[in-house]
Amino acid sequence: MLDALKDELLSQVNAAADLSALDEVRVSALGKKGRITGFMKELGNLTPDERKERGQALNALKDEIAAAIDVRKADLAAAHLKARLEAERVDVTLPVRPETEGRIHPISQTMDEMIAIFAEMGFSVAEGPDIEDDFHNFTALNFPPGHPARDMHDTFYLPDSGDKKMLLRTHTSPVQVRTMLNNKPPIRIIAPGRTYRSDYDMTHTPMFHQIEGLVIDEATNMGHLKGCLVEFCRAFFDVDDLPLRFRPSFFPFTEPSAEVDIGCSRKGGELKLGNYGDWLEILGCGMVHPNVLEACGIDSTRYQGFAFGMGVERVAMLKYGIPDLRTFFEADLRWLKHYGFAALDIPNIAHGLTR
Ligand code: PHE
Repeated sequence: MLDALKDELLSQVNAAADLSALDEVRVSALGKKGRITGFMKELGNLTPDERKERGQALNALKDEIAAAIDVRKADLAAAHLKARLEAERVDVTLPVRPETEGRIHPISQTMDEMIAIFAEMGFSVAEGPDIEDDFHNFTALNFPPGHPARDMHDTFYLPDSGDKKMLLRTHTSPVQVRTMLNNKPPIRIIAPGRTYRSDYDMTHTPMFHQIEGLVIDEATNMGHLKGCLVEFCRAFFDVDDLPLRFRPSFFPFTEPSAEVDIGCSRKGGELKLGNYGDWLEILGCGMVHPNVLEACGIDSTRYQGFAFGMGVERVAMLKYGIPDLRTFFEADLRWLKHYGFAALDIPNIAHGLTR
């Protein structure tokens, strides 16, 4: 009789089409009110000899059914997984749909390249707000009140809101101030970001980008500034013997101050970078003025250092041969497709910056 039951249960197990059907079979055989369990309960009515024999047979049956259920369960799970993999199959060899072909803007790419080079030199990235106050943008940077340099910056002022006159920062130099106010030397940061001046022509847009650099410690001098910028420019433009020329200049927040030109040629209306005898200005720099250090709570008898500020559009145009500044911000997809970069083309010194 148990043989008949066994055959019946085994065929039910093997016929179970899914996990829940299989579980129903398990409950009907081995559950509290299951058929095998029922026979077990009747063992008490038998004589000891009968009970022993019957008990062994029932236990063997129970084990066999349980094992058959486990096997069936594994088969069903494997079949389920296989069906799912089949249903979710994707063809990874299909080309990307054209509308997902996004490009990285040359400004983003250029800033990433600059950050990669300066990071290699031990600079970390600092940030500040686009909306600044007079103190951070001018006063702490040693622009005296009423100084004409304030007007030279063609500042965008925000509508008067009462206590403090707010403005759109005219350069990234206020990040110098914020960094020095909040950190003790030694300091070695760069600050890439947006800047604003009321100006619009072939070479000026009201919004543009700069990257600021600041190094403060007890020993850094003009020689270090020179070495740092020479290294940077040669790496960035990928011209090993690119000459740099430091010309005396003036900024209220540096003393001495210099403007830096890189060597180029303009022969035949084509701009080429290198040692060709002609020059092109790319950045301003100098030793941080003691008044600035003091305004930021740094002892100017003990600490000193250098700062520089570079126009990102300008060097991006040079490096990538983009002729008109204004096109950067026209959001023209054809332009972006032409001058943009692939999303996975992440600048990295080891792999080379220019591709
Ligand atoms: N902030 C200056 C500018 O916008 C550039 C600069 C930065 C010069 C740091 C010297 C030192 O023109």
